[in-house]
Amino acid sequence: MNNKTLKVAFFGLGYVGLTMATSIAERDARVIGYDIDTEKVAKVNKGETPIHEPNLSTLLRRNIVKKRFFAIEDPRKAVKESEIIFITVGTPSLQDGSINLDYVKSASETIGKELRDLEDYKLIVLRSTVTPGTTCNLLKPSLEANSCRICGKDFGLAYNPEFLREGSAIKDTLHPDRLIIGEMDEKSGDALEEFYQWLYHDELPPTIRTNPDIAELIKYANNAFLAMKVSFINQVANLCQRIPNADVEVIAKGIGLDRRIGPLFLKAGLGWGGSCLPKDLRALLKFSRSKGVALPLTEATLFVNEIQPLNAVKIAEKLLGDLKDMRIAILGLSFKPGTNDMREAVSIKIVEELLRREAKIVTYDPVAMENARIVFGDRVGYSKSALECINDADCSIIITEWPEFLKIKPKDFVSRMRNPIVIDGRRLYDPEDFSSKLRYVAIGFGSKI
Ligand code: UDX
Repeated sequence: MNNKTLKVAFFGLGYVGLTMATSIAERDARVIGYDIDTEKVAKVNKGETPIHEPNLSTLLRRNIVKKRFFAIEDPRKAVKESEIIFITVGTPSLQDGSINLDYVKSASETIGKELRDLEDYKLIVLRSTVTPGTTCNLLKPSLEANSCRICGKDFGLAYNPEFLREGSAIKDTLHPDRLIIGEMDEKSGDALEEFYQWLYHDELPPTIRTNPDIAELIKYANNAFLAMKVSFINQVANLCQRIPNADVEVIAKGIGLDRRIGPLFLKAGLGWGGSCLPKDLRALLKFSRSKGVALPLTEATLFVNEIQPLNAVKIAEKLLGDLKDMRIAILGLSFKPGTNDMREAVSIKIVEELLRREAKIVTYDPVAMENARIVFGDRVGYSKSALECINDADCSIIITEWPEFLKIKPKDFVSRMRNPIVIDGRRLYDPEDFSSKLRYVAIGFGSKI
């Protein structure tokens, strides 16, 4: 790629679109973000991020001010003035577990229509998570029909999955483990690889060039495997809890040192959530069933995760008996630290279960309180700090491992709670220290209860 400013557009300013657009603008490209949401476009142009992501607001503001990035509702300008157009729209779950491709469809129709009168070659890149066959059987025909142009000749097309984690999306965009390029034809693949060479210079990660169907399946297999690893260690954690002196953390370390297993995604807890893993596993199962193939490991991964959060409730019941009118402090509501996202958060399952038992719930999260109000309304109490949350509680449950909870010492729990019982659902505290000072039960730590 020569020295002229690269022009890139993003269709869809959700999590993936906004973080990638901002990261690319930071590398001096001219980026246009298109979205149908008027409010979001206005917000982004003011440098305000609709999501909580470390570093994003600073980068966004800087690039808006420098006019390297702006958001619009005009698809014509976005397509006309860009060489590469990334589609980063959502593919939410439908009731039956399959994904809703309406936004991909409408983006392809809009882009297709705008391509119609353009002479120059544009590369279209789908980044949204879609089941195998979507790029070839939906996107390509739709772009061709709406543009009256030919894929491979008049415009390029590739599927290029993202693997961004919430909370480190900027870092993951700028330093990915690998690139997967699912190209419709060689020219499209070359153009996308050239773009990434421009973005990463000497740090181009290992790159796999393949066809779109394989690239689409890589994304699902990746997330199904990650989820399976966590569900696996959560099962081991449940076993450890029944063996006095057993500790899942030591076991995770022991098996993680085997290079064939690796140390990551072996942190036991109350289960996994978020906007991707649950949705992707359900979509993979639905897709595989449609092909007449069973995926029992993926079924089991989801099943283990359904019941894992309930361990917190079971432990509370064992320690306190009937939970009716018991005051339970919930520390952490987002599906993981570093985000305000509560989609499919384990906290929701646990709070709902406790409410069914008529417990009195008081909650605290450093950034997810606004989202929590939308989910729970006035059915739970909201605290201004972690310390306020544990006041007079009969039991505290750590659901999200926010680093600030580490500041709460055993003496704080003892002096503030009515009944100093801590259920550590994320292995935040030192079990030896806490066990010697209060009633402490941790996931995967063998105790006598
Ligand atoms: C995930 C994938 O990692 C990413 O590649 C994909 O593109 C989007 O989905 P994300 O949803 O942001 O990213 O969260 P991730 O960091 O993967 O964690 C998912 C869930 O697993 C969280 O609830 C987290 O608390 C849990 N988890 C993760 C564990 O319980 N233990 C672990 O060891 C790792």
